[in-house]
Amino acid sequence: MSKTFFITTAIDYTNGAPHIGHAYEKVLTDAIAHHRRLRGEPVFFMTGVDQHGQKVQQSAAKQGIEPAEFVAGITELFVALWKKLDIRYDAWAATVEDLHKHCVQGMLQRLWDEGKFYKATQSGHYSVRQEQFLTEKERGPDGEFGPEWGEVVLIEEENYYFKLAEHRQWLLDLIDQRSAAGNPLVVPDFRVAELRNAVEKLAGDLCISRPKSRLTWGIELPFDRDFVTYVWFDALSNYISFAGYDAAPGADLSLFKSRWPAVHVIGKDILAPPHGIYWLIMLHALGFTDEEMPTLLVHGWWNIAGAKMSKSLGNIVDPSELVDRYGRAATRYYLLSDIATGRDADFSNERLEQRYNTELANSLGNLLNRTLNMAKRYRSGVLKKSDSPLAEFVQEKTKAWDSAMEAFHVQTAIEALMEIVIRCNAYVEETAPWKLAKDPAQADKLDEVLYSLSESLRIVSILLLPILPEESNAMRAQLNWSGEPTLANTAWGLLPDAHQLGDPVPLFPRIEVPA
Ligand code: ME8
Ligand code: MG
Repeated sequence: MSKTFFITTAIDYTNGAPHIGHAYEKVLTDAIAHHRRLRGEPVFFMTGVDQHGQKVQQSAAKQGIEPAEFVAGITELFVALWKKLDIRYDAWAATVEDLHKHCVQGMLQRLWDEGKFYKATQSGHYSVRQEQFLTEKERGPDGEFGPEWGEVVLIEEENYYFKLAEHRQWLLDLIDQRSAAGNPLVVPDFRVAELRNAVEKLAGDLCISRPKSRLTWGIELPFDRDFVTYVWFDALSNYISFAGYDAAPGADLSLFKSRWPAVHVIGKDILAPPHGIYWLIMLHALGFTDEEMPTLLVHGWWNIAGAKMSKSLGNIVDPSELVDRYGRAATRYYLLSDIATGRDADFSNERLEQRYNTELANSLGNLLNRTLNMAKRYRSGVLKKSDSPLAEFVQEKTKAWDSAMEAFHVQTAIEALMEIVIRCNAYVEETAPWKLAKDPAQADKLDEVLYSLSESLRIVSILLLPILPEESNAMRAQLNWSGEPTLANTAWGLLPDAHQLGDPVPLFPRIEVPA
């Protein structure tokens, strides 16, 4: 058995409702996981929610409810959305769970015992409203802290710090070694330099606690119950706590090690410093070897008309509404086809409608429908196995699809799939089966055309699986092919002689756009 392909997404912050950025990350990861399953690799896909912190505590207080109740409500929205989008994850990481708390406390205790934390006093300007220390960066052009910070006072506060900076050279070397070995730590490539620059500048250590007088909604430090751990050791640790890790000396890590290391799918805003610096150094401090360092797959952002999605701009797109209006297929297809992995893209309803209608309704849906209809009319749906002029082209595009998926370039993979569909539609026009059907001397040619189209569609249905699992299955049901959807089964010619096709059922109804 080959090693498990272990893929996670950033855990979504439960202080707000899910948006299309969240939806994109999940759909992207779902597609990648499906591709690995098609290859026959064991896959462990984990996602979840980041439920602790100051903002959550404040939002709950505002509503007059307990933080636990508040996060349970938001978590429900995420879970419902993943179901609606058909995200097939294998494990769910919710950071309020006991399993997670115990694991995090075990990690903290061990690092404390090993002298990797220290306690220090910080004094400085503190914003009471934002509940944070302010640095020189926060001063306005007039040298003052602006009104957004509310009352600013000078305070002294004790906290615990993680010795981060002493790992700087190790991390720089790791980045370089991984790139030299052709296995970059960060994908896509152009983000490696961004991370490296951030590590070059790494100077201070990392504050990992908050006094309980300020924050109670978190995980207690096991060695000082007056403090909770602040965000990093809580949120980032989910990737190992829910995968079977245990920091206790002598713990059985065999299950964990059969999965680890992971590919973490994250957005560009949380590469440096959180994942690219804090997380890697946390793992290193815990004794993870260089070979056990994860890979960071960094995707870009969906913007709205060139602007960032934000509550204050009121331009947040709700993915659940999108599915209600356009359907799951249109939503998944758009989020996967209209953005290049790593780059930003602009969200637009018009693009979504246009891509769906052109590529799914007109090209693919129509090809399936006309093929099954012609086969039914001319041959009672029974195929005659024949050689095909399309075989080589389809196999070439299947290979291109597989390499693109392997490199996480889902958009490129979809292009390869659509090239098969476009070629098939052109082939229908070139061969005009409706003319061949009128000429008994062309009977063999007609069989060749019908077989070529049906077999191409069978293969396309497998390539479509990571993108649109439900419609992929529906295609195979209509083709009446009950073989396993696997990469091996994209080999040409698996529809047997005398295969009986099923009945056509419209698969991608057009989105009617009001004029
Ligand atoms: O960052 N387009 O949570 P989060 C694409 N809890 N992706 C976007 C996006 C957009 N417009 N906006 C956000 C957090 N994302 C932390 C993570 S991980 C241990 C802790 C992505 O809810 C963002 O980059 O703010 C991140 O990967 C994910 O959505 C969750 O963002
Ligand atoms: Mg965020």
